[in-house]
Amino acid sequence: MIILGIETSCDETSVAVVEDGRRVRANAVLSQADLHSPWGGVVPEIASRQHSEMLPSVVRRALREADLAWDAVDAVAATYGPGLASSLLVGLSMAKGLAMRLNRPLAVVNHLQAHMYSPFLSPEAPSLESATPFVALVISGGHTCLVRWEGVGRYRLLGETIDDAAGEAFDKGAKLLGLGYPGGPIVDRLARGGDPAYVAFPRGVVRGERFLPAGADPRLCFSFSGVKTALRTRAAAEGWNRDHPRLADVVASYQEAIVDAVIARCERALDGANTLAVGGGVSLNSRLRARLQQLAEARGVRLLLAPPAYCADNAAMIAGLAGVGGGRWGAEAQSADATPSLSVCAA
Ligand code: KG4
Ligand code: ZN
Repeated sequence: MIILGIETSCDETSVAVVEDGRRVRANAVLSQADLHSPWGGVVPEIASRQHSEMLPSVVRRALREADLAWDAVDAVAATYGPGLASSLLVGLSMAKGLAMRLNRPLAVVNHLQAHMYSPFLSPEAPSLESATPFVALVISGGHTCLVRWEGVGRYRLLGETIDDAAGEAFDKGAKLLGLGYPGGPIVDRLARGGDPAYVAFPRGVVRGERFLPAGADPRLCFSFSGVKTALRTRAAAEGWNRDHPRLADVVASYQEAIVDAVIARCERALDGANTLAVGGGVSLNSRLRARLQQLAEARGVRLLLAPPAYCADNAAMIAGLAGVGGGRWGAEAQSADATPSLSVCAA
């Protein structure tokens, strides 16, 4: 079964061709980061216009890379949420049109569930069946959550962020220090060689009495707005900026606070589970990857990290999850609307 997948939920225009949910024949990704970086964040109008202009050529590029003709495509899949409404609409409309024209089935996929599935795109990963059930951590620019994967289409929310996502904390922190956008990779690089104990940033505890999503355990929820505020306050008081001599120590400490908070939740979420699967753009973070490896070794659990090519937004994870039966199919898919605030466990 060869699926052509389309992903346009944020600022990456991506089209992939995946065989049997596992073998990535092509994964074309066109990043818009350069267009948004002068604004210090994603500008929705620019994103959707760029998707509209570029998507047809990215579709052709993916088919060329896969070395396939149109009639080899067995189904078409697209992200329908969550994400930016006008961006989602471009990819979803294209997928509906293609499925109709090719007379092939259509699947619409939840972007966050696709991130959870992304570790299985690695040729070294165990089969999805043998790894199930597992705990999934999705950690990206828009989302941070822990979910128990009980089977394709059977997900249970364990915890999620009550304010900013981890990637947002990286991006906003970097912006505040004048380091550029996106901040995650810049902080990751600058923090190497820095002292992570230089500043004691808060670790964002979530209390039970706060408003929480249904089913979420406060001990497994995240809060990253406090660490960002602490950075802002301390930066103003101490004159931290891109030229400060202790910049590496400041960003290493900031990164450590974010990573520490994530590791503590993962550790708790692993009670009674033996596999942790991690995906999303922030899972590229070298410190987080190292700490997750340490945690897995200490706890004797199997760690499945998304391959670097499939950490950030990509269509391979969309076509992949559809290829194992994920997402909504048939009439339900044809009538699905772009759903900007689709929750992580929604079909
Ligand atoms: O998954 P993704 O491409 O988009 C969303 O679905 O949000 O994630 C983008 C996020 C950005 O916040 C970016 O700063 C962060 O991933 N990121 C990183 C690293 N590489 C990307 N954060 C920390 N360390 C990195 N090396
Ligand atoms: Zn994403």
